[in-house]
Amino acid sequence: MSRELSLAEIFQLGYYWETKILLTAAKLDLFSALDGKPKTAREVAERIGAHEPTLSLLLNALVAMKLLAKEGEQYGNSSVADKHLVRRSPHYIGHLLLLHDAEWNNWGKLEETIRTGNRSVDRHVFETDPELGGNVLAVLDRIGRQSGPELAKRLQLMGPLRMLDLGGGAGTNAIAFCQVCPELTATVFDLPATLRVTEKTVKEAGLDSRIALRSGNFNRDSLGGPYDLVLMSDILHYQTDESNEVLVGKVFAHLAPGGRLVIKDRFLDEAGTGPAWTTAFAVHILVNTQEGGCYRTGDAIRWMAKAGFASIVELEKTAVVQGVKNRDA
Ligand SMILES: C[S@@+](CC[C@H](N)C(=O)[O-])C[C@H]1O[C@@H](n2cnc3c(N)ncnc32)[C@H](O)[C@@H]1O
Repeated sequence: MSRELSLAEIFQLGYYWETKILLTAAKLDLFSALDGKPKTAREVAERIGAHEPTLSLLLNALVAMKLLAKEGEQYGNSSVADKHLVRRSPHYIGHLLLLHDAEWNNWGKLEETIRTGNRSVDRHVFETDPELGGNVLAVLDRIGRQSGPELAKRLQLMGPLRMLDLGGGAGTNAIAFCQVCPELTATVFDLPATLRVTEKTVKEAGLDSRIALRSGNFNRDSLGGPYDLVLMSDILHYQTDESNEVLVGKVFAHLAPGGRLVIKDRFLDEAGTGPAWTTAFAVHILVNTQEGGCYRTGDAIRWMAKAGFASIVELEKTAVVQGVKNRDA
């Protein structure tokens, strides 16, 4: 049994003022306005189109939060803000904060959703604002580079495999798999708006001769193939159980005999109370998607068994499940 929370920790859990101050500063692109030399509140207000006395309150709070520094009447970015919150920086992660801000009003409807069971959104922000979605994927690609190579090594891939990275986003995994396995070639299948980002990341990685892009909706369009390996990484939590079952069956048909499907996702444990981050993510999916959900590895095993996969194993607890298509299937 873990230790009891203290009262101070309960207060901390319920406290979101600083969160919204940071998200609003990112929305106002305030850190980019402070790029270069320090400025007074009046100068910043003129740049971003804001009411100076009100803006000063926000700027002072950001100083106390150590994102800005103040000397006399002038405000400047801290070095971490300069590196990660100024748009021109190659390390800019503000798109992720803009996504959280775009989802803010959905969270405000959580009580209603819990009372009625009805979802408050009819489309995910990736569909309503594909440009923001693409930019977020580019940020996730940059900060998530280490997990792809680890997965590729764990799968012990060898030889000239044909891989499909389904809903592959910025191509993070396809790129990592190509880098770990010199003979592997990959296809990244995704929506056309996303593939604009993928094209850039694949080119930057120097892998355009080994990674093809295939545009479409994986629920409606042919996936091409046949493939020796299909990866579904972080795509199934946006969909219903029924759609996932159908999609896994579709993938089975696009695999060569002996090929394998690897599903990597944020699965809940059997009790539904862990991993801790995933329990909160399940609520996030509830308020921000029309029909998504966090599943258990048992669900993925059931989808695979129904499709006809054999040798189905949970390779990493609450994270990775693999099924193999029999050679005579
Ligand atoms: C959370 S991202 C995961 C990206 C990547 N697989 C990864 O693990 O980094 C979900 C991806 O699924 C794509 N996607 C969602 N619905 C899709 C659909 N119906 N057809 C094709 N791609 C889709 C999105 O465009 C996005 O790139």
